[in-house]
Amino acid sequence: MSTSIWRKKPVAAYQAEAAKSGLNRVLTRWGLTSLGIGAIIGGGIFTLTGIAAHNHAGPALALAFVIAGIGCLFASLCYAEFASVLPVEGSAYAYAYGTIGEIFAWFIGWNLVLEYMMGATTVAVAWSGYFNKLLHLFHINLPENLVNDPVTFGGPAFNLPAFIITWVITAILVQGIKEAASSNNIIVIVKIAVVLFVIFVGSFYVDTNNWHPFIPAEVTDADGTVHFGVGGVLTAATIVFFAYIGFDAVSTQAGEAINPKKDVPFAIIASLVICTILYIAVSLVLTGMVPYNELDLKAPVASAFSGAGINWATYLITIAATAGLMSVMLVMMLGQTRIFLGMAKDGLLPKNVFGALHPKFKTPYKSTILVGFIVSLVAALTPIDRVSEMCSMGTLLAFSMVCIAVLVLRVKQPDLERPYKTPWVYVIAPMGALFNFFLMTQVRENTWYAFLIWGTIGIIVYFLYSRRKSNLNNTSE
Ligand code: ALA
Repeated sequence: MSTSIWRKKPVAAYQAEAAKSGLNRVLTRWGLTSLGIGAIIGGGIFTLTGIAAHNHAGPALALAFVIAGIGCLFASLCYAEFASVLPVEGSAYAYAYGTIGEIFAWFIGWNLVLEYMMGATTVAVAWSGYFNKLLHLFHINLPENLVNDPVTFGGPAFNLPAFIITWVITAILVQGIKEAASSNNIIVIVKIAVVLFVIFVGSFYVDTNNWHPFIPAEVTDADGTVHFGVGGVLTAATIVFFAYIGFDAVSTQAGEAINPKKDVPFAIIASLVICTILYIAVSLVLTGMVPYNELDLKAPVASAFSGAGINWATYLITIAATAGLMSVMLVMMLGQTRIFLGMAKDGLLPKNVFGALHPKFKTPYKSTILVGFIVSLVAALTPIDRVSEMCSMGTLLAFSMVCIAVLVLRVKQPDLERPYKTPWVYVIAPMGALFNFFLMTQVRENTWYAFLIWGTIGIIVYFLYSRRKSNLNNTSE
């Protein structure tokens, strides 16, 4: 028995597991793509575009989306290859376990918690903001201390809508992927319809003068913060990166896919490409409809239409955003429980909590409820920018690691069956790793400290629990 922290789970073991997944196999290729789009289009495009254009990129918001999209595209091509080789629910965690080694895999799994749980938390808070806006449209006003966290409010407060929506999603997820997938499909259709509406109707209101200058001249604040110019566009790229998070969530659904080896790679790439095109178009329309320095920070898409005098569109967009954000939460929380399931199956997390499937619904109900509990409390009590940056850090690291791991596997096991192969892997994979790591370096210093603390706790848990309980202790590997 090997006790090396670099021991690997054999790829054959994954393939055997995939063949006898205990989950219901109900997802088709377009069902998976829909899950991907459901996870991708959300708070990023509906809210963060305002901050990114107004404060950092100006009309070059579209360019920021292109830059962030390149890193994601590289990562998605690598994810797709892995998903075809290892069609299991653990995502980047599983890929690293099969290629680089246990401690590396554990560390990625630990960071995926940031991506999925903090992603769901961010979106719960964004949902609360849109829900509150919706109530305002109908002249209903909740007390400020019930729609804000204590830090934002500056006193005792509890974000009640964020808390409640998390429990609604938790209840849907406990009941099962089939019900979740069909409600998700409806929401995704509404969401895409509204985004297309924004693009087509909005394009009639574009004034091309608003696109000049495309990259506004650099400005430095009294506190030294730089806005606009090339640096501003890069900062905007790290902000709108959040908008792309979610395509990788498709890979966590492999256990529920009818034909995972072919359909998961397809859905990963298709959902990312579709969303990238939509995002670039929305960015051009928004910055063309309204001078960038007049874009609203909280609800830029809806406000651009009220600014153009199409008030009824504000209702439509606000309602669609409220529904659309729910589907992002659904996939994020679903993804988290499936990664935990993968880790529990390997013995790195307690099986009786994270591996327990509901006898009737066949869902990992205990971990779903635990995830709901954590997300609901953090969402009710924490400001959105703190959680969204932690989410981006965890995701960027996972993306870089997947790019490295796909290369390692190509070199070490060149003859492995790969139903999907990353094109130009020796160029795409290193560039993907470097590009995503470069975006990490652009994130604020305080977030880095929090990220390092989180990582240290993860390593301690690994040595105290996971290494000792790993299934690999019982094999001859
Ligand atoms: N991409 C997801 C969003 O924009 C996380 O909300």
